[in-house]
Amino acid sequence: MYRVVSVVGARPQFIKLKPIHTALQDADVEHIILHTGQHYDPVMSDKIFDQLHLPRPDVNLGIEPGLPAQQLALMIPAIEQKVLEIKPDAALIYGDTTTTLAAAVALSKLALRFGHVEAGMRSGEPGMLEEVARRVADRVSSVLFAPTQTAVNNLKREGLEHKTNLVGDVMLDLFKSVESLVERARTAEKMDLSSDYALMTLHRAENVDHPHRLEEILRNLSEIAEELQIVFPLHPRTQKRVEEFQLQDHLSRMKVVPPQNYLETLSLIRDARLVITDSGGLQKEAFFSGTRCITIREKTEWPETLTSQANLLAPLARGIRSLVHDIISKPINEKWSVEAFGDGKASFKIREVLLAPQN
Ligand code: UD1
Repeated sequence: MYRVVSVVGARPQFIKLKPIHTALQDADVEHIILHTGQHYDPVMSDKIFDQLHLPRPDVNLGIEPGLPAQQLALMIPAIEQKVLEIKPDAALIYGDTTTTLAAAVALSKLALRFGHVEAGMRSGEPGMLEEVARRVADRVSSVLFAPTQTAVNNLKREGLEHKTNLVGDVMLDLFKSVESLVERARTAEKMDLSSDYALMTLHRAENVDHPHRLEEILRNLSEIAEELQIVFPLHPRTQKRVEEFQLQDHLSRMKVVPPQNYLETLSLIRDARLVITDSGGLQKEAFFSGTRCITIREKTEWPETLTSQANLLAPLARGIRSLVHDIISKPINEKWSVEAFGDGKASFKIREVLLAPQN
């Protein structure tokens, strides 16, 4: 039996894993899930596996929390060792986390065909760990699975077109497959939110790890919360920083809730007046849902979401308020097309390419 190992470790990777797992199972491929343990809280990990009906990981390396370099130093030999034991025919790595970077380095030393799912994303921020992970993963992987034409263009510019395949976005595959469940979830109603609310998430190191930056963002959002209810699922990294920098007061006007599971998040996005986020995944999910989004970053890896003013970038925290007012006062009636992200069958295309006989 053909054996594929997927190396994952952080929340967005479990989501991307699901459609791939389904596609591999459909073809009777043995799929081994190797979890580094980067995300270890039940709400960030186990509950997602359960809700998505993913089998629990075959291996969990239980890597201790720590600085990225410390985690990398532990992950690289541990991944190498396990993959040597598992003896797969091929492997997959996902996205742009510390786990992705560690897996890319570990696998590049083995005589093994491995692919990068969500290849070619670039935001042009060289100091960002995610950008380093993307670049290294794309350089060393045997085959690249690009979600969009922009990603293909980025890879061409770096001379990597010979191993690039435009397949579409696996997150759209999953989004489409759960649409009816999301429709019925009614999370906002269960949370007793008002009919008009904004969903906000925040976790990127560049936004939450510096006291002044985090304070400025939360202060501006707290002002917005006077006019528009804000529901804020608090990421563990952000929670730690808010406590460390003593910024709890800025959260008092918002409805702060624990990190939400996948379907609940999609339901909150769907019914929100707008989304305010620094997450790559949420920008896309807002776009897929037809909900407008403000992204608290200078750049986005997903320029397709900027069309029709669906997604507005707010590099400066003080700019967020006027963008919120723009969205509230000038609603857009037209719906944008999601076809730039493929046809919802990316995972099957990935399977075909990964399993194709090599000469
Ligand atoms: C990581 C990814 C980011 C992705 C995000 C999704 C990297 C460099 N970044 O950031 O690209 O968008 O995941 O969530 O990999 N922590 C907990 N519980 C957990 C996990 C983490 O308390 O379950 C704590 C850690 O101990 C650490 C902090 O949160 O202090 C940050 O964790 P980290 O692994 O760096 O990832 P994220 O910030 O989530």
